[in-house]
Amino acid sequence: MGQWLGISAAPVADDDGSVLVAKEEDFKESKRIRTTVKDRELVVFYNEGQYHALDLRCYHAGGPLHLGDIEDIGGQTCVICPWHQYTIALATGEGLYQGSDPQDPLRTKKWFSKGVKQRVHNTTVKNGGVYVTLSDTSIHFDSDDYACEKLKESENTVKKPK
Ligand code: FES
Repeated sequence: MGQWLGISAAPVADDDGSVLVAKEEDFKESKRIRTTVKDRELVVFYNEGQYHALDLRCYHAGGPLHLGDIEDIGGQTCVICPWHQYTIALATGEGLYQGSDPQDPLRTKKWFSKGVKQRVHNTTVKNGGVYVTLSDTSIHFDSDDYACEKLKESENTVKKPK
């Protein structure tokens, strides 16, 4: 992936609880923005006419998903975490892995889901603005462990595992 050109947006709350994180035009160049909504670090991707908001920190060990490549894998558009190449579906937050079906005598490699690992949030577009509504946090997802900015002083405090 080339240099990341996304902006760090300054969110603005709307009456319905959604938060304006950027204008549509902000996605023209980089196709992604990084933002913080209610202390939660998020990345919003724009891909093939759809906006996808996810927790910015990878569920595996807190890697920066806003720096990940976007690829179509197993019929889903995914972000590849730059730290250990975990594959996460943008639309659902599912962690995907490649393996072979034990029932398949040819052991053909296929993509399987680990279930939803990365929290996704709702996006809407109103009057040229891209809004995010945080998802219900009563259900825990693995990415919650890395999601809140106030838990970190900076990107450097998240140690990249070796
Ligand atoms: S931190 Fe994302 S794959 Fe390890």
